[in-house]
Amino acid sequence: MTRVAHASTATRFDVDRVREEFPILAARMHERPLVYLDNANTTQKPRAVLDAMQAFYEGYNANIHRATYLLSERATAAYEGTRTMLQRFVNAADRHEIVLTRGCTDGINLVAQSWGRTNLAPGDEVLLTWLEHHSNIVPWQQVCGQTGARLRVVPIDDRGELIMDEFDRLLNQRTKIVAVGHVSNALGTVNPVAEIVRKAHAAGARVLVDGAQATAHLPVDVRAIDADFYAFSGHKMFGPTGTGVLYGKAELLEAMPPYQGGGDMIASVSFEKTTYNSVPYKFEAGTPNIAGVVGLGAAVEYLQGLDRAAARAHEDELLAAATAAVRAIPGVRVLGEAREKSSVLSFVIEGIHPHDIGTVLDREGVAIRTGQHCAQPVMDRYGVAATARASFALYNTLSEVDALVNALGKAKEMLT
Ligand SMILES: Cc1ncc(COP(=O)(O)O)c(C=O)c1O
Repeated sequence: MTRVAHASTATRFDVDRVREEFPILAARMHERPLVYLDNANTTQKPRAVLDAMQAFYEGYNANIHRATYLLSERATAAYEGTRTMLQRFVNAADRHEIVLTRGCTDGINLVAQSWGRTNLAPGDEVLLTWLEHHSNIVPWQQVCGQTGARLRVVPIDDRGELIMDEFDRLLNQRTKIVAVGHVSNALGTVNPVAEIVRKAHAAGARVLVDGAQATAHLPVDVRAIDADFYAFSGHKMFGPTGTGVLYGKAELLEAMPPYQGGGDMIASVSFEKTTYNSVPYKFEAGTPNIAGVVGLGAAVEYLQGLDRAAARAHEDELLAAATAAVRAIPGVRVLGEAREKSSVLSFVIEGIHPHDIGTVLDREGVAIRTGQHCAQPVMDRYGVAATARASFALYNTLSEVDALVNALGKAKEMLT
């Protein structure tokens, strides 16, 4: 196996110790060590998360908020404890500004349907960007169809950065909300969300930030960003699938109607009239993913127990090493070369379909994602149908970058 020369600087971050916390990383695929480089899709889970969920089911499984017995009180305390941890994790002013959802998609749909249907009217505009994941496009398209509002889209340049002059031009008195990703899942671009919020607020618009790709990599402070809404997924930050968070400013959440009806979101029900529970409970209809939320709390604790600046430096080192090595392969075109990037390397190899690259890499134990990454407009912008995407997490290593590069060499040999 060839070793790519790396100028290793991130010795402060003990990645070997971190890896021991993730049992799945010891797995073998096709008789080779698993090299998991599909972290933008979903991350693996540390033992603390697995243990917390197991402990819940073994020790205090009960429904929450409703019962008067101790078991249910324990379940409720754990569920609500996660809400408080999440409040601190994103620096929200109040724990009631944290709505627990099924995922980032769920949170964006909540805002589009609840806030959007109440606040949008014909002639109004919703401003998106070309970098958005389908989850931050389709809900807005749907609510525009329902209300007569219009979608406008901020273009990107060849590096994959938002063209801020165009943002300034498109933002106007008709813009009611700007919906923008913090980090692009297709290209890794980190957007200047605080600047976007400042400008949007000056124009009288609200801002939803899609933080699905941010929370595992960057410290997120919703008050520093001054986002009106900030949505993210638990499973992309080492927590369980089926969990997510919508942060919303209290006064906005208070004024919004419920998104879904059902148990737990009501104060009283008769056939004549229903009154709703307070914020955030009016947005949490039905029995939630209690075990998942308990696991998400463990994921937050796990992340907060790490030196996150060192983890970020380690990830940056992986991205820089992988980018340099992959770019050096003849016929490779890297998509997305923003000055501010996080953990995503998207590329195509001339004459080889990305799916074929993915298949050969899989035989080498290397898991990457190939396709349009739920970001078809980004693919259209670059004139490609699909890319191969390696995405890194704090538990990846420089040896895994080597494994990726070697496997790509094999793919080239076999497929060209
Ligand atoms: C930028 C971005 N937004 C939203 C989502 C949707 O997240 P989920 O499928 O967890 O709801 C994703 C998932 O890949 C994403 O990358």
